[in-house]
This record gives sequence, C-alpha cells and structure tokens, in this order.
Amino acid sequence: MPARILVAYSTRKGSTAEIARAIGNELQSAGHSVDVAGMKEITSLDEYDAVIIGAPVYKGKVVDVKKFVDKHQDALSTLRLAAFTAGIAPASDDPKAVTDCLDTLHAALEPLQPLASTMFAGKLGPGKLSFFEKKIWKMVKGPEGDFRDWDAIAAWAREVAVKMGI
Ligand SMILES: Cc1cc2nc3c(=O)[nH]c(=O)nc-3n(C[C@H](O)[C@H](O)[C@H](O)COP(=O)(O)O)c2cc1C
Repeated sequence: MPARILVAYSTRKGSTAEIARAIGNELQSAGHSVDVAGMKEITSLDEYDAVIIGAPVYKGKVVDVKKFVDKHQDALSTLRLAAFTAGIAPASDDPKAVTDCLDTLHAALEPLQPLASTMFAGKLGPGKLSFFEKKIWKMVKGPEGDFRDWDAIAAWAREVAVKMGI
C-alpha cells in the first residue's frame, strides 16, 4: 500500500536538499505520496507514516537534526524513521571519518533509533564557500568537488522503503 512519507532535510549550500529531492523522487516513482521539506519549515508530522531525516555534517556536527528531533520527538517515536547524513568524509582517505559522522548522526537522533541510516558523499564547491570556510578547508586539506553518487542515493531510497516496511 502506498505510504505517506516526509523527507525532512537541512542544508547550508543546497547539496543535501538535492539529495533529499532525489530520494523523494525515487519513492514517488515507487507509488508513495512524498513531501520533501526543509526541517525549519515543518510544523506537524500528523499526515505521515514515515519520515526520512537528512542533514550535512559541518565541523563534525550533523546540522539541525537534534533540534528537529527535540521538537517532534513524540510524533517521530510513533512513525517509521530513517536518516542520512552527507559530507566529505566518504571522499576522504580516513575510513574512521564516516563511522564518526554516523555516530554523530545517531547521537543527534537519540533516543530515537532509525530503521536505516547511511552517509552519502556530498559536494563542496569553492564558489560557495565564505572566506573563513575556505580557510578552514585549506587548513584541513579537505577534498573539493561534487562526490554525490546519484545511483547509490536512488538505491538507498529503494532499500530504505523495504527496511521501513512501506
Ligand atoms: C566549513 C566546513 C566544514 C565541514 N566539515 C565537514 C566535516 O566535519 N565532515 C564532513 O564529512 N564534511 C564536512 N564538510 C563538507 C560538507 O558536509 C559538504 O560540503 C556537504 O555536502 C554540504 O552540504 P550542503 O550543501 O547541504 O550544505 C564541511 C564543509 C565546510 C564548508
């Protein structure tokens, strides 16, 4: 049966919003009714069966997720929940970087436990960085580019529907 799904995202430069929309499109193609919306605009979760939360990592923190979970914890605890984060960690040479980001995502979701979670490689374009962001990025020698893998994102959307039983 088609489910009513909300993909709730946070973004600073727009790339996580695009990932959220790609997930929404994939689920919609499978016949579900999907809304994709910025976390800050969401006032109620009443009309949904499932929620997918997505947010980027900045300086080791998953942006806005804790605030969203605190605000909607009662409703979220009754819904099917999945979550993703996006960042440059999957494109780095440090295998522990992704695990650390996922731990941070899970900590921000607590006490809720998602039925599925993952980290996608994100996008970092020099044109979109502020003066200080450029400085930080140079200091940590972070990679630059669009590392998003649209096939992997669509595949996760299909997998997540199965894991959420929708
Ligand atoms: C100042 C700054 C700090 C960042 N810190 C991290 C980080 O700690 N870990 C990580 O994996 N990615 C980090 N990133 C990369 C972003 O998470 C990545 O560019 C993401 O795709 C941005 O999402 P957005 O376009 O939705 O804002 C950082 C980027 C900037 C500019």
